[in-house]
Amino acid sequence: MSVPILSPAGILRLASVSSPIINISAGNRREFILCSPDAIRAVLLEEAQRVTRPSKIFYWRQLMESIREEGLPLALRSLKNDHVQSLDPGLPAASIYSSDGNHHTIDERKLNLAVLSLMLSGYGAPIPPASLELFMTASDRVEWYKSELNDNRTPGLPDRIFFAQAVTDQRQFALDMYKQIGRDLPAGLTDPELYSRFKEEVDSLIGIIHFSCKNISNAIGWIISNLAAFEDAFCRNYGQSSEKTDDPNSQTNGYLYAVILESLRLFPPNWLFHRTAMNNFSLCGHHFIAGDLLHISPLLTHRVPECWEFPDTYQPARFMAGGKVDPWAFIPFGRSFTKCPGTNLSFRIIRAFVEKILSENIVSGRGHFVPVLRNTISLNPFPLHNVLLEKRSALVPA
Ligand code: HEM
Repeated sequence: MSVPILSPAGILRLASVSSPIINISAGNRREFILCSPDAIRAVLLEEAQRVTRPSKIFYWRQLMESIREEGLPLALRSLKNDHVQSLDPGLPAASIYSSDGNHHTIDERKLNLAVLSLMLSGYGAPIPPASLELFMTASDRVEWYKSELNDNRTPGLPDRIFFAQAVTDQRQFALDMYKQIGRDLPAGLTDPELYSRFKEEVDSLIGIIHFSCKNISNAIGWIISNLAAFEDAFCRNYGQSSEKTDDPNSQTNGYLYAVILESLRLFPPNWLFHRTAMNNFSLCGHHFIAGDLLHISPLLTHRVPECWEFPDTYQPARFMAGGKVDPWAFIPFGRSFTKCPGTNLSFRIIRAFVEKILSENIVSGRGHFVPVLRNTISLNPFPLHNVLLEKRSALVPA
């Protein structure tokens, strides 16, 4: 069976091809994958001169402006550094586990909901859990429906009706949020009128909320999978040593932080992002013309042999003191001024959940860890077949 080049499995096959840029053009379509840190640096540092994002994300621009402005909407507090630092890790108190009596595991849906509620906890008025749940159900349904179409399956009429309802539910949720975030919104408009006026912003908000929540949950899933597979002693003894750090920016501070980085290297949830050439230019022997599509894949660049020793091997020590990492070879959140605005928030939430899971459970592995890289928008490790969770005895009620 042939694997599409732009799928996680296809990308992994390309990782061993030693080339700074791979041409994957077909027919009239001109497309390239930028692999080497140098090529990526040359393009990302020239954002707005050489390249742009394929679709303009208005909400993103608005978001960045608001974050910079002092005293501006509390609605965006969750992306501001001060809020991120004071985020209460006790917040995800709701259970993220499911159990069938014998088997105790992390429940993907419950984790998604807990992450979403923590992620949006800084936005103006608290969002009722029922709305979060409706949004998550709708987004999962839309994602499923689109993947059916992508795989050339035609969903039946009931699924098409559910899909239409799901899209409506997603829009209503995002519109309600946009009403809190948006500035200078005209008064006196009905929701449908507001939606038609701000369609692009509201729709991009849907994508960002859903996708970033999935990215965080999936990152947590991959980290727990790696801990289960490779860190038996660390997991058993967790909480008994003095291992503790509150500085998410330090690359040398704390083994758990190194584990998180190594997991983001091997399994970057956002495994593909894109730019379009705005004009003609040459780079690493390739000539690009305006309109060319340029792909950047952290999954690929994180494994190029020129930058990483034993690229496919799990080795958190590379992120500990003394390890040498080229910053442009490690891009799970992108890099420089175009990098993901949710980076700090994500680290904080990821760490809060991983610490919670480790403090409540002994995490160990069952059998050999064979990661399955499904072709999902955010690289998804669920269900965590290789992970065995055992409640720490001190926490089991008598
Ligand atoms: C583990 C979690 C996350 C990962 C791995 C991740 C990764 C990324 C990456 C690789 C990009 C592309 C950067 C580029 O095009 O140069 C991006 C963009 C972005 N991310 Fe994140 N992100 C995460 C969480 C979040 C969160 C929590 C938020 C907001 C609440 C967020 C909001 C955004 C936005 C608004 C963009 C820009 C979209 C665009 O302009 O195309 N992300 N993220």
